[in-house]
Amino acid sequence: MAFMTPPRRALREIFPYQPGKSIASVQRELGLRSVIKLASNENPLGPSPRAMAVYRRAGKSNALYPEGASPELRAALGRFHTVRPESVIVGNGSDEIIRLLCEAFLETEDEVVVSQHGFIRFKQQAALMGARVIEVPMTDWTHDLELMAKATSPRTKLVFVANPNNPTGTYNTSDEISALLKAAPKTALVVLDEAYFHFAQAIPGYPRSLSDLVAEHDNLVVLRTFSKAYGLAGLRVGYAVGDPELVGWLDRIRMPFNVNLPAQQACVAALKDFTFVQRTVALNEAQRAFVARGMGDLGFGVGESATNFVFARSPLPGRELFKALLRQGVIVRPLDEYGLPQFIRVSIGTPTQNKTLLKALHKALPRRSAAVA
Ligand SMILES: Cc1ncc(COP(=O)(O)O)c(C=O)c1O
Repeated sequence: MAFMTPPRRALREIFPYQPGKSIASVQRELGLRSVIKLASNENPLGPSPRAMAVYRRAGKSNALYPEGASPELRAALGRFHTVRPESVIVGNGSDEIIRLLCEAFLETEDEVVVSQHGFIRFKQQAALMGARVIEVPMTDWTHDLELMAKATSPRTKLVFVANPNNPTGTYNTSDEISALLKAAPKTALVVLDEAYFHFAQAIPGYPRSLSDLVAEHDNLVVLRTFSKAYGLAGLRVGYAVGDPELVGWLDRIRMPFNVNLPAQQACVAALKDFTFVQRTVALNEAQRAFVARGMGDLGFGVGESATNFVFARSPLPGRELFKALLRQGVIVRPLDEYGLPQFIRVSIGTPTQNKTLLKALHKALPRRSAAVA
């Protein structure tokens, strides 16, 4: 007998998020032993050693439930960012917080403003709530915050800005963000997703959102994650900082034990691992230049990146290139789900991984492909 209960209407239009292909699945499907993954912007140095030391010890308490609101991690984050712990919520990845924001604030037919090639999870979560998603074109592959401000209306509840953005790797300046905050209606919450903060923070003009902007603007919430510079994507921990009242609404609807016990403790330790974060950022900077140059020489149009990945126009359709690289045991990210079939996104790996990538790209491309602008 066929299943008779229809899902909510909004669900029928939703396409599931396509994560980067895993190493294990490529090994299984293609019978390859050696596979490298440059598809999910993870840390090629592995996890923060200080976090891992605590993680191993904390696992001995895994018979117990964690404290639901992650109080120690919230307090540590409060000290770290000089904000009150009540201004912080910890989530199962920043992805959970994107979901919580949509669940907390969106009624059917409310409006959400996103960028055309902005991080795709924003529009997926907003659509799930039945909201109207307004996609604003980019300028030079960068969020056009003036246009995004113009696209807001009294019905706008959320404005999502990933800064820097995934998958385009571009960023917006402090002045641009401040202008958006001024121009957006006070009833619209501006969500600034800074998953790649550490890779962009040294750029002149990049905003100091947590030290300067959050205190001044009740309608700003900033998202950060432990998945990138701290190398803890597998632990699933992200957080948001914003007005305590806003945070209170999110806290009310999160899962009772949304962040597991060893993860909470490990992230307190990760915050102290400055050396690891510095090493990560330095390696990324040097290797991103190496990858960008190598790909440029091969005929890719590589964009400037403020992140730990590069975004590039490919001489071959992105999916074709993705498949040709997979056969050589290299996983990258095609971008058709972003409406960019001619582009790929490649995470920056270790020096050895990046050399393997460039060799594999060379092999995958037809001889003497013409340079593409
Ligand atoms: C812009 C952006 N925001 C959020 C996330 C989700 O990160 P998390 O692992 O914290 O859920 C990602 C992951 O790649 C991202 O690129």
